[in-house]
Amino acid sequence: MTQMIDGKAISAKIKEELKAEVGQKKEEGKEICLAVVQVGNDAASCVYVNNKKKACAFVGIKSLAYELEETVSEEELLLLIEKLNQDEKVNGILVQLPLPEHISEERVINAISPSKDVDGFHPVNVGNLCIGRKGFLPCTPAGIIQLLKRSGVEIEGKECVVIGRSNIVGKPMQMLLLRENGTVTIAHSRTKNLKEVAKRADILVVAVGKPKFITADFVKEGAVVIDVGIHRNNENKLCGDVDFDSVKEKASAITPVPGGVGPMTIAMLMNNCVETIRN
Ligand code: GUN
Repeated sequence: MTQMIDGKAISAKIKEELKAEVGQKKEEGKEICLAVVQVGNDAASCVYVNNKKKACAFVGIKSLAYELEETVSEEELLLLIEKLNQDEKVNGILVQLPLPEHISEERVINAISPSKDVDGFHPVNVGNLCIGRKGFLPCTPAGIIQLLKRSGVEIEGKECVVIGRSNIVGKPMQMLLLRENGTVTIAHSRTKNLKEVAKRADILVVAVGKPKFITADFVKEGAVVIDVGIHRNNENKLCGDVDFDSVKEKASAITPVPGGVGPMTIAMLMNNCVETIRN
């Protein structure tokens, strides 16, 4: 029987754990506040931001919402970030991506104080991850490590193949699997013989951004398959980067879409917020 890796249940458990921890911290007089900045009203971003605010309310984290017009200048956004950096009551700052084209995501990410960068996107946090120092971990790859560990999947010594090399998922995923003593290959759109490379994987993490791109012929019998993609098809149904129906017959464990990786990203964001008040 193929194991369904239940991201919804695992993320609910993590949020319960965090809620208890935050409750204790409140008794010690410690509060957490996350500033959530959204520019414009991209439909997907609205859903994500709303879910983040709801998770904050559940865990007991105060959230401040900054909803800026699509036309806001980069300078104004940078000024807001600087104000939030200086505000002692604000523990974490999250700027929802993507940003409108006239604003440089790089300049915005660089402007966030690394000590408040709960997304783990600032170069200081990226660098700390690479050299094994403490810092904020990017939420999606950190969530995938939790999914694997809490589902009883051992990483040490395993052949891990990550397909996709984005700064948000692929690259940090590679570093985190390496930190868990996996043997890691990172594949991408220019990889030759992608099928053969993917088939080496005991643990296959797919973040290619193409609906149902990974079919059963990319997957070794018994592999653990983690699907980071999320797409809406013509019938308004959600699907991932993995062709779930064919791959589940071959995998020993697989994440569904929805209900796999998605809920973990928010749980790990909550964890990063709580991290700001841990010693
Ligand atoms: N847009 C899509 N995913 C993310 C994320 O993890 N953080 C932020 N800030 N924006 C996103």
